[in-house]
Amino acid sequence: MTRHFLRDDDLSPAEQAEVLDLAIAMKADRYGSKPLAGPKSVAVLFDKASTRTRLSFAAGIAELGGNPLVIDAGTSQLGRGETIADTARVLDRICAAIVWRTFGQERIEEMAHASAVPVVNALTDEFHPCQILADLLTVKEHKGGLAGLTLTYLGDGANNMAHSYLLGGATAGMHVRVAGPEGHLPDPDIWRRAEEIAKATGGSVEITTDARAAATGSDVLATDTWVSMGQEGKDISKYEPYALTEELVSLAGPEVAVLHCLPAYRDKEIASTVLDGPNSVVWDEAENRLHAQKALLAWLLER
Ligand code: CP
Ligand code: NVA
Repeated sequence: MTRHFLRDDDLSPAEQAEVLDLAIAMKADRYGSKPLAGPKSVAVLFDKASTRTRLSFAAGIAELGGNPLVIDAGTSQLGRGETIADTARVLDRICAAIVWRTFGQERIEEMAHASAVPVVNALTDEFHPCQILADLLTVKEHKGGLAGLTLTYLGDGANNMAHSYLLGGATAGMHVRVAGPEGHLPDPDIWRRAEEIAKATGGSVEITTDARAAATGSDVLATDTWVSMGQEGKDISKYEPYALTEELVSLAGPEVAVLHCLPAYRDKEIASTVLDGPNSVVWDEAENRLHAQKALLAWLLER
């Protein structure tokens, strides 16, 4: 059966660990593995803007010996109303995999349902699972492991990054805290699912409106933009107490690793001094998109 990666819990804990170990091995021998030799083509579709995802998939597919076909919705028939299912039926005749950044999760589920080749979520309104693989890889490199560490995400607790940290972090056996304002906390179904996973992996899940308590003692602090793509013009004033400041970093402790998936809105969700400071691992995190996604594609294509 074709495997897809539409949300973080599409990988079991053992499978997630396997992909991360493969990413570490592939990073150490960057041009040594060519599972897409042929070259096989991979469609990389965008309904929203992107810098890192576009570059890391295009470069990664080429490094795997493949041919990246990067297409914007606005220049494809998908953007003119061709159905998702018809698009999938054409793409899977030509490509070895389909990577898609889009809006609602139901859109990528529909693509996967109609596709005979793996479909990978390159960000939806609900999840950003490729980003979390890169983030876990970064934490593993800097901390030597994942299980048992406390990862705290601050800010918009209802967005794709919050949801993916919950599912992906719980899968890795981490203690995941999400701190955000009332009314901007995770979807209850995703929260429940993360708790269920955490129960099996030895991790835990905590949702709170108290930023200072959440940050205290954390091994990892993470944040994201307060205005996700598609939410332009929203009121951000209620997020201000959740800004990742030097004070929150000091509450976490001197060894805390700071993550931000980027792009960052400096001195909004994160202080410039934190982003550029000694605890920040955001540039490793950005590079690790490449290595994590190469491993994911190689792993999916082997199934
Ligand atoms: N972090 C991330 O997905 O960046 P892009 O929006 O630039 O792809
Ligand atoms: N939450 C952000 C992530 C950007 C990489 C968004 O969806 O725009």
